[in-house]
Formats: sequence, structure tokens, C-alpha cells
Amino acid sequence: MRKIILSAAAFTMLFSCQNDENTPVAPSTEAIALRNCATQEVLEAQLKADPTLALRMNQIEAFTQKAMLTKRLVNGKIVIPVVVNVLYRTAEENISATQIQSQIDVLNKDFTAKNSDFSSIPAEFAGVAANIDITFELAGIVRKSTTKTSWGTRDAMKSSKKGGIDPTTPTKTLNIWACKIGGGILGYAQFPGGSLATDGVVIDSKYFGLSASNSYPYNLGRTATHEVGHWMNLRHIWGDSSCGNDLVSDTPVAKTANYGVPAYPYVSTCLPTHNEMTMNYMDYTDDRGMYMFTNGQKSRITALFVSGGARSGFGI
Ligand code: ARG
Ligand code: ZN
Ligand code: CA
Repeated sequence: MRKIILSAAAFTMLFSCQNDENTPVAPSTEAIALRNCATQEVLEAQLKADPTLALRMNQIEAFTQKAMLTKRLVNGKIVIPVVVNVLYRTAEENISATQIQSQIDVLNKDFTAKNSDFSSIPAEFAGVAANIDITFELAGIVRKSTTKTSWGTRDAMKSSKKGGIDPTTPTKTLNIWACKIGGGILGYAQFPGGSLATDGVVIDSKYFGLSASNSYPYNLGRTATHEVGHWMNLRHIWGDSSCGNDLVSDTPVAKTANYGVPAYPYVSTCLPTHNEMTMNYMDYTDDRGMYMFTNGQKSRITALFVSGGARSGFGI
């Protein structure tokens, strides 16, 4: 098979400052509200530090586009083994097995369209709402006590050398770290193509699964749904720039991140006039405000798991 390799410059073009009309727009300078998803920042730092990462991500993108075009999508079911790595200083951070299983249950519901709020999807978007048809199975829990009060977003929690926990067989296991992140960050993920040593997602213990002590309005376990979305190659719905492109055709263009629970219809200020899909898991709304993926997002995800895909080790 001939490989399509985009230059690093082309890759950067693809992911920055482009809207759907392909008109370059200025990078968003809007103030970052309250909290922020560190995933994009982490990616940008990794791209700076490692010039070969852009190349690997280009190849994944080319493969994704090709797999989508030729419809070489998965027939069998995909089941993702999950190892949860718990780093705790306080008893509260040492989340229970029940709480861990509750997060797996939320992921299973959200990725199979069995979430109870799936029926809240507006008629306008119901036609593109997807059952991703991927399930998750708890394969193990690794616990470690620590004196660290917060871990930040530089992947220290993923390294035993840095006091964290090394990932378990990341080629065929989704590693999730539960720890205190700090800085108002709920969670962050690594996209496909990154180093195996840091592959997986990190969720702050306060927002992990379902627990009475978790912090409203992020207490429905959707931080993990959003971060696993990134881990499965999904971009933010606003494409991380003003009226940007998330590389998914059935998600409407969005101006920027939406917070809270926007009332439907939320009319976009990106033209031509249309409503934003604020209820997509890849927006920034409150947990109860997000309840769908789309068919286009599903196509990107499934492309990862076919033979030759970036996560084909997960076996099908
Ligand atoms: N990484 C994003 C953050 O830290 C996750 C947002 C998830 N949103 C949610 N409603 N749980 O803000
Ligand atoms: Zn995000
Ligand atoms: Ca889109």
C-alpha cells in the first residue's frame, strides 16, 4: 500500500486556524474560561519537543481519511481492556473499585448510545447520532500512594521514575490514571501516534466515575467519555480555532467551546447560519449537557482499529 505522507507544514495547516470554508482565520485569542482542556496544549508541547510526532500523526490522519473513503471499517465488535492506575495521597483520592467500575459503566453506555439522555438529542441531529459500538472491560486496578498534592499535565503520573505508575501493555490496553491533576483541569488525553510510554487518559479523581463526593457539574463521568474521545482521535467540535474544523463533516461548525448547558437551539455565529451541536461529547459543556457522538466521529474512531490502524493492537 502506498503511504500518503503530508509534510509537517501541511499537518499544521490541517489543524490550525482553518474554518470549513478553508479561509484562514486568526488564532483564537478569547480568554480561556474557568478551565481548559489540557489535551491540545499537551499535544502542542509534544509536537514542539518531538519533530517525529507530527509525521506519525500525519500518517494516522492519511490512513484515517483513506479508511473512511474506502469504508474499510470494522465488522467485529471492539472491546477495550482498561487498566485504571490510581495515585492517591488522601483516602478520598484512593477511589473505590465500585467508583472505578461506575466509570467503566458510563463509558459503556456513552459509547453504545445506551446513555439515558440519548433520547434528548434534538430531531435536527438525531439522524447523525451514533452508536460507536465499542465497549470497555476493566482489566485491572493498580494503586500507589504518593505524597504529591497535584500531578499537573506533563505526564509524571505515567512514569514510575517520576513517582507515578507506568502504563500496562499500552498497545492493547487503555490506561487511565486517576489522580489529583490540579489547575482546574478535569482530565487530559494523548492522541493516537504519541509515545506508548504516555499513552492513555488522565482523569482527576474528583471527576472520575460516579460518586456522591464528585464535583457537580462534572459528576456524571463524562470527562472520561470526552478524553477517551480524544484518545480515539476525536478533536474538539470547534476545531480548536474560531469556527474551526474538527475533520468531521457531520458535526456543524462551532465558534468556540460552549460551557454550562446551552439552551437548544444554540445559533452559531459562524456562517452560514446554523445551530451548534453543543450536546456533542467533544464540546466543553457540563456533564449533563453532553450526550452524543456522530457517525462521522465514529468513522474516525473505527479507522484506528482496522488492520494497519494506529490502535489495531486492540485486536479485531
Ligand atoms: N479536558 C477537559 C477539561 O479539563 C475536559 C472537559 C470535559 N467536560 C466535561 N463536562 N466533563 O476541561
Ligand atoms: Zn478536550
Ligand atoms: Ca465538523
